Amino acid sequence: MGIKARTRVREALLSKEFGTEITVKGWVRTRRGNKKIAFISLNDGSTIKNIQIVADVPQFGEEFLKKITTGACISVTGELKESMGKGQNVEILAGNLELYGPADPLKYPLQKKGHTLEFLREIAHLRPRTNTFGAVLRIRHALAYAIHKFFNDKGFLYLHTPIITGADAEGAGEMFRVTTLDISNPPRTNGNRIDYREDFFGRETNLTVSGQLEAELGALALSDVYTFGPTFRAENSNTPRHLAEFWMIEPEMAFYDIEDNMDLAEEFLKYLLVRLLDECREDLEFLTEMYDRDLIERIKHVAENDFIRITYNEAIDILSTSGKEFEFPVHWGADLQSEHERYLVENHFGKPVIITGYPRDIKAFYMKQNDDGKTVRAMDVLFPKIGEIIGGSQREEDLEKLEKRIQELNIPKEELWWYLDTRRFGTAPHSGFGLGFERLMLFVTGMGNIRDVIPFPRTPKNAEF
Ligand code: 4AD
Ligand code: MG
Repeated sequence: MGIKARTRVREALLSKEFGTEITVKGWVRTRRGNKKIAFISLNDGSTIKNIQIVADVPQFGEEFLKKITTGACISVTGELKESMGKGQNVEILAGNLELYGPADPLKYPLQKKGHTLEFLREIAHLRPRTNTFGAVLRIRHALAYAIHKFFNDKGFLYLHTPIITGADAEGAGEMFRVTTLDISNPPRTNGNRIDYREDFFGRETNLTVSGQLEAELGALALSDVYTFGPTFRAENSNTPRHLAEFWMIEPEMAFYDIEDNMDLAEEFLKYLLVRLLDECREDLEFLTEMYDRDLIERIKHVAENDFIRITYNEAIDILSTSGKEFEFPVHWGADLQSEHERYLVENHFGKPVIITGYPRDIKAFYMKQNDDGKTVRAMDVLFPKIGEIIGGSQREEDLEKLEKRIQELNIPKEELWWYLDTRRFGTAPHSGFGLGFERLMLFVTGMGNIRDVIPFPRTPKNAEF
């Protein structure tokens, strides 16, 4: 027993120490064979590949081996052997077999291969046992790790911004209320409104839509910080690109202008893609073969080519002279929809595009205002197949301009006193952006639905497991 004695399947498959005894543990993918010999294909999640276990039927008994069915969990100790079988180099000749947990073939839902992704969403508690979700979740881990490494190597500090927030100022999306009040009978004020002074935090609180405002506090003290945490948006948007709970990476840098911000975003994305191509090759090859023939080529193409940088004005010109009929009309002042974004990236340029200089009326209050009085130093990074993958900006560091904008937008200024203090005391030019982790996951896995790149998706009417 114990982990010391166990070899991961990934390691076992790479081993050349034939003749030695090893122990592997995992879940049975298939068992086949005849009266003399049984072949068990075993996976423990460490790799997309299975290891073959060869068991002598008379030695273990037919009755016992019958219980080793698809989905069962076993421990195997035996001799590592060079395999004669096609498609594998090693196998284990079982000396000892222990059954940890059977899986009734009449009930286990993952009997066969080839379940639809829709079906697998209904059994999200078991889908990590499939090849597809094994690959997706290993890639997810590798990316998360690479993100931390990228920033750590650049001297950024990982800042843990709060999940529960008292500020609703960002306006990035509808929020989820956090309360311990009795919702069937909440305390009331004289005016018969719910009295949040009685609530747990003595005020209204919500789940955060972004860590940015707090990250700015960090940047204006520690220079370069980033957050990497869950964010929550209660929009009722049932699309393949929206989750109610998603993870966001938000770097925030003092002394960066919008150009520096774009450079960092591009360098960051390319770094992650290059590492992934290197580290998750087998999983990417599997996904390419199964779901998206162009996947690896597309990742390479983005990793190796400069992103296009244009202004919002230029984007509007391109779109309105494209001759293409869009569902949402294109005109100056309108926000770009994903059909517009994808046209620019996929049809017009054939490369990722960074758009800057959006109209200030469609962007958040904190973005640095340009001298034209109409646009702000926003930047969106658009990716093939995805559309917007990053949103960011240079921030308005001028207290007066910021206060004026807050007033124009009727944002309660008292709620932001702490944020405004950074502009009062030692303000500095600074910039940052937010990368939607699952949007990036969509891009690198070739999955078409964001519900399939997070282990336990939260979407409208869906939070069971
Ligand atoms: O563009 P957004 O709303 O920007 C912000 O929240 C800023 N505070 C970021 C910053 O400057 N620090 O969101 C950033 C990114 C989007 O580009 C998108 O990739 C992703 O987050 N995103 C979502 N991903 C999944 N589901 C949703 N509902 C998402 N909403 C945004
Ligand atoms: Mg955005």
